[in-house]
Amino acid sequence: MKPVYTRIAGTGRGLPDKILTNQDLEKMVDTTDEWIRSRSGIERRHIAADNETNLDFCELAARNAMQAADVGPKDIDLVIVGTTTPDQVFPNMGCLLQRRLGIHGCAAFSLEAACTGFIYALDIADKFIRTGSAKCALIVGGETLSRMTDWTDRSTCVLFGDGAGAVVLEPAAKPGILSTHLHADGKYADLLFFPSGVSKKPKDFYARRDFIHMKGSEVFKVAVTKLGEIVVEALEANDLPPEKLDWLVPHQANLRIIEATARKLKMPMEKVILTVQDHGNTSTASVPMALDVAVRDGRIQRGQTILLEAFGGGFTWGAALIRY
Ligand code: COA
Repeated sequence: MKPVYTRIAGTGRGLPDKILTNQDLEKMVDTTDEWIRSRSGIERRHIAADNETNLDFCELAARNAMQAADVGPKDIDLVIVGTTTPDQVFPNMGCLLQRRLGIHGCAAFSLEAACTGFIYALDIADKFIRTGSAKCALIVGGETLSRMTDWTDRSTCVLFGDGAGAVVLEPAAKPGILSTHLHADGKYADLLFFPSGVSKKPKDFYARRDFIHMKGSEVFKVAVTKLGEIVVEALEANDLPPEKLDWLVPHQANLRIIEATARKLKMPMEKVILTVQDHGNTSTASVPMALDVAVRDGRIQRGQTILLEAFGGGFTWGAALIRY
C-alpha cells in the first residue's frame, strides 16, 4: 500500500470587526502605546462585540477555509476545534460548528491545549488522515480571550485579542505535513492560568468570575527556551538546515519572543510571518490566522517549506514542519 500523507488544502480566518487600539487602551488603564509596542510589538487587536461569540469566528474561518479548499459540508469527515474559550462546556465546539455548517455524522470534538491547541489538533488530524480514518478534516483554532481578560489589569489586558483560523486537510501522495512535535509540562501550571473550571467549587458559588493570571517575565523566559528547542527538534527530525526554510509562522504572543526564535534559527525577520501587531495574542487562533494572512497575500506559495510553532499555558508547546 502506498503511504498516505496530509496536505493543507485551504486556509481561512474569521475576525471581529471591532478593533481596539493601544490608544484606546491608554484611556482604559495606566499604559502607553509606546510601552505596549516596545514590550510586545502589539498595536491593535480585534475584540468580539457583546453579541458575538467564539463560534461566530470559528464559523467564518471554517467557511473561508472550505471555500479555499473547494470542499462542502458533505466532504468533511472530521472536525476538531482547538479552544480554551468554548461557547459552552457541551455540546463541544466541534458539534456546535457542525450544526452551523450543516455537517452531519462525523467525529467532532474540542481540544484544549491553550495557545498550542491548533498544533495539537493538526498533529491529531494528520494521524487520522495518514491512517485512513479521515479523508477531509476541518481544523479550527478559535478564541475570545477578551471574555477571560481583566480589563482593569494593565499587565495582561494589553496583550490579548479575539479571532479564529482554520485549515482543511486532505490526503496526498507526498507530504504535506512532514512532522509534528508536541510537548507539555504541567509543573509550570502556576505561571499562566485561568483559575475557574466547572468542577472547582468557588467560595461564592453564585458570583463565580475569574480572569487570566500570568507571571509575564517568567512565562517569557520559558517560552524563549522551549520554542528555541522545539524549532531545532523539528528541523533535526527532518535533517533540514534552517536556511532551507522558506517561512517561520510563529505563535503571535510577543514580538520579542518571535525575534528570539528567529535568531535561534538565524532566520532574517523578512522570512517570519508577523500578525502580532494587528491581532495581539489570540492564543490557539494565532498560528492558523497568520498562515492564512500569508497564503492570501501571496507570500506563502505551494511547494514552500514552513515551520509552525506555538507555546502556551500548561505549559504546552509544539511545532509542525510543512511543505505547503
Ligand atoms: N503599561 C505600562 N506599564 C506596565 C504595563 C502596561 N501595560 N504592564 C506592566 N507594566 C509595568 C509593570 O508594572 C512593571 O512596573 P514596575 O517595574 O514598576 O513594577 C514594569 O512595567 C515591567 O514589568 P515586567 O512584567 O517586568 O515587563 P516585561 O518586560 O517582562 O514585559 C510582558 C511584560 C508581559 C510584555 C512580557 O513579560 C511578556 O510578554 N511575557 C510573555 C507573555 C506571553 O507571551 N504570554 C502568553 C504566552 S502564550
